[in-house]
Amino acid sequence: MALVNTKKMFEMAYKNGYAIGAFNVNNMEITQGIINAVAEEKAPLILQVSRGARKYAKISYLNAIINVVVKENPDIPIATNLDHGDNFETCKQFVDDGFTSVMIDASHLPFEENIAVTKKVVEYAHPRDVVVEAELGQLGGIEEDVVGIDDVSKHIANPDEAVEFVEKSGCDSLAIACGTSHGAFKFKSEPKLAFDVIQEIGNRLPGFPLVMHGSSSVLKEFVDLINKYGGDMPNAMGVPEDAVSKASKMAMCKVNIDTDLRLALTAKIRQVFAEKPGEFDPRHYLGPGREAIYEMVKHKLHVLGCAGKAAECV
Ligand code: G3H
Ligand code: 13P
Ligand code: ZN
Repeated sequence: MALVNTKKMFEMAYKNGYAIGAFNVNNMEITQGIINAVAEEKAPLILQVSRGARKYAKISYLNAIINVVVKENPDIPIATNLDHGDNFETCKQFVDDGFTSVMIDASHLPFEENIAVTKKVVEYAHPRDVVVEAELGQLGGIEEDVVGIDDVSKHIANPDEAVEFVEKSGCDSLAIACGTSHGAFKFKSEPKLAFDVIQEIGNRLPGFPLVMHGSSSVLKEFVDLINKYGGDMPNAMGVPEDAVSKASKMAMCKVNIDTDLRLALTAKIRQVFAEKPGEFDPRHYLGPGREAIYEMVKHKLHVLGCAGKAAECV
């Protein structure tokens, strides 16, 4: 199977109450950990590339890795997404490079400008069979190349605006700020998602797929390993997995996960370095890291409910 766009995946996810995992890829080991899990669990898959990933690895290298993944997994529907495209030109480049989905993240711009640039991307992407994700409201957290805001609770998406935005921009899916943020420090106290807003936007846009960014759960087992073996991540906190599951059963059809991959890899590498100080073969620490990602993603596919759903998304 060639690469697919997300239309059929989202249609099935919406209808049957699950979400597709959208995992960020930065190198070969991360990508292999993800695809090995997805192939084992027979799940549909979105592989996505951020601006930071492009800067680190170059899109040509990441594309080559992704092409091998697609070729070696003919039974798995795989979509490729530009994560947080910052302007029209970046989105155009990824459409031209053969990605099947692009995200235009103009959520920091005034509402009308966000609509205008999203519409421009849609007009370029749709004739080329590429789908467009847009963003409304602002997320918090700071990644290398995605800067968030401080208090996420003040920037929850507005349902009236969401309806108007989707109608006017023609986007295929919408990332809505709902209390999550990027990275490993998502909440200062109790984790809290705006399920009422997710529900209301879902009700007012029947059949329309929503996207949840900042969905990592910041799993305790990895944070504990990191802290045990010389790391320093006090107060790390993510979205509890039952909240991710609940959102996946609602209109959230795409759930973005990057931090949990980073934590799994880092925890295992730290463990190897601490337990085997003489180790210097990268395969002997990247390998366990890849294995940890594999186990984590396998588990996550059940949290999202998309395990076993590859065939129906074709
Ligand atoms: O959206 C955020 C992703 O985790 C990407 O972050 O820019 O550090 O690659 P990055
Ligand atoms: P996390 O930092 O929670 O993994 O979110 C990743 C993300 O939203 C990528 O766009
Ligand atoms: Zn994001």
